[in-house]
Amino acid sequence: MTIAQQRRQAVTETAERILSVIGDKPTVAKMEAAKPYLMALAERRDLFPAEDFPAPDGGATDRTYLIFDNENGAALYAITAIPGMTYRPHDHGGSWAMIAAVQGQEKHYLYQADPSVPGRPILKDTLTCEPGTAVSLLPDGIHAIEGVGTEPLLHLHFYGTRFEDQGDRTEYDLENGSTDVFRMEAFGFIEDKR
Ligand SMILES: [Fe+2]
Repeated sequence: MTIAQQRRQAVTETAERILSVIGDKPTVAKMEAAKPYLMALAERRDLFPAEDFPAPDGGATDRTYLIFDNENGAALYAITAIPGMTYRPHDHGGSWAMIAAVQGQEKHYLYQADPSVPGRPILKDTLTCEPGTAVSLLPDGIHAIEGVGTEPLLHLHFYGTRFEDQGDRTEYDLENGSTDVFRMEAFGFIEDKR
């Protein structure tokens, strides 16, 4: 089998296993139970060579590749990024999220919405997603991310709902204490590597 075929098989098996654990009602316990499967896939660096998943270029800080989706709208992406990449606080429009690292370090700032001040979610925790770790968000989760360390990043991002359908995604402008509705074009182009 070619690398692409091996990857397709491993990605599909992993994604279906995770989806069967999470089911329709994600909980912290289910996320924790499912994380090891995504981490095990992320350990297969041989399946994610730089030839197939190049780092961003031309001044871009990240690049997104679709590696799995299904008829229910779940989608798994491989995202390459450079240290220094940042993404301001956002939710995923009601979708759960799970992220594991193939390579590089991504710092996550985890927030909780503050209903009394909609534009200023409360920082609850920070952690670094690097090989051997994973991060998850429930459907109401909010996070900001930052590429740290010195190595280029390659992370696997799994969502119950694909980016295109995360329609009501909210982004937070902490400085102004305001919120914006996410625009798909801000995400750039998604390359199909299924
Ligand atoms: Fe995110």
